[in-house]
Amino acid sequence: MDKTILITGGAGFIGSHVVKLFVKKYSNYKIVNLDALTYAGNLENLTDIKDYKNYFFEKGDITDFNFLKNLFKKYNFDGIIHLAAESHVDRSILNPLEFINTNIIGTFNLLNIAKETWKNNFNGKRFYHISTDEVYGSLGESGFFTETTAYDPKSPYSASKASSDHLVRAYNNTYNLPVVISNCSNNYGSHQFPEKLIPLAINNIKNNKPIPIYGKGDNIRDWLFVEDHAVAIDTIFHNGKNGDTYNIGGNNEWTNIDLIRSLCKIMDKKLNRKKGESEKLITFVKDRAGHDKRYAIDSSKLQNELNWKPSLQFEEGLEKTVEWYLANQKWVDNVISGEYQKYYDKQYKNR
Ligand code: NAD
Ligand code: DAU
Repeated sequence: MDKTILITGGAGFIGSHVVKLFVKKYSNYKIVNLDALTYAGNLENLTDIKDYKNYFFEKGDITDFNFLKNLFKKYNFDGIIHLAAESHVDRSILNPLEFINTNIIGTFNLLNIAKETWKNNFNGKRFYHISTDEVYGSLGESGFFTETTAYDPKSPYSASKASSDHLVRAYNNTYNLPVVISNCSNNYGSHQFPEKLIPLAINNIKNNKPIPIYGKGDNIRDWLFVEDHAVAIDTIFHNGKNGDTYNIGGNNEWTNIDLIRSLCKIMDKKLNRKKGESEKLITFVKDRAGHDKRYAIDSSKLQNELNWKPSLQFEEGLEKTVEWYLANQKWVDNVISGEYQKYYDKQYKNR
């Protein structure tokens, strides 16, 4: 094997797409997926590569330093692609401590173990930290987040991600740890946990349940197909400049209400419902606390320097996503049984 790569959070939404891409594309790499299998992690996301010879799974928690020490003794890692995180803003409002532990302490542990293991021989090594556009805060009606926009995180989730980004840069500056960071906009696609807007809405529409829209539905997000994000991660991991940051986005801004209306049209078609039937489920509910108004990414650095661009139009990606969820009801039923029901009641009852 030419390289041994650790991917953290590889059983989650984006991580599983990254693991699949790397395992299939790089038969000369050993890919080790480390995941704690929290409510968001699911090995069913990886069934099509689980028997590949270059794929290895390790269950473990990045907040457990002793576990990481043993893992780094077992494998001789050349690179780390770090996606493991608590990722849902609403959960960070209900229970911020888990975000502090995983996103900050967990990242700190990984930085330390990489620094200790690689010592001063950083040749050919790379620590790639996956972050979010939410660290930049919230935009008004115009403008875009660039790589030099000042950090201004506004939720416990984004504050924990911002904190981890700062630690990664500090390890590069202080210890010369070879790092690269990317900050991406909202992803959508298959295997996303149905607590996030698009899969939640698909599931509720299918089951004739209200679609909860926070506030007036005029918040804006910049949506990117998850497989395009995975390709960007591959590109940056291999060709990004040491110490640099790359913004990744879809150049695809939608208000939540317009997005949900489009989704309803697709669902009407796919479920053979009368035109306008699914839209009747739209229900405006109490706004998210501290709800960021608008995110929009300027990804021209990544496009110009590393030649990446999104491959899919939103309507096409949305339709593909709907088709996947409708064809994979068993996957949805499995992930929404148990803990999710309690979360859903807490989050949406009395809203
Ligand atoms: P996700 O919640 O779907 O998956 C997170 C994965 O991390 C899960 O498999 C979970 O089991 C694992 N995990 C959580 N805590 C862990 C711990 N302590 N130790 C080991 N594993 C643990 O998240 P996602 O949406 O796939 O996001 C992945 C990364 O990308 C995160 O760092 C997130 O901040 C970032 N990101 C996400 C988006 C998005 O739109 N989803 C956009 C930009 C950046
Ligand atoms: O921008 C990148 C971020 O995108 C990632 O860092 C996060 O991990 C990811 O969860 C996502 O955060 P958002 O908060 O933007 O995503 P979410 O799907 O939760 O919400 C999208 C928008 O929809 C947001 O404005 C809130 C709104 N919303 C969400 C839910 C769950 C609703 O109106 N109703 C809902 O029920």
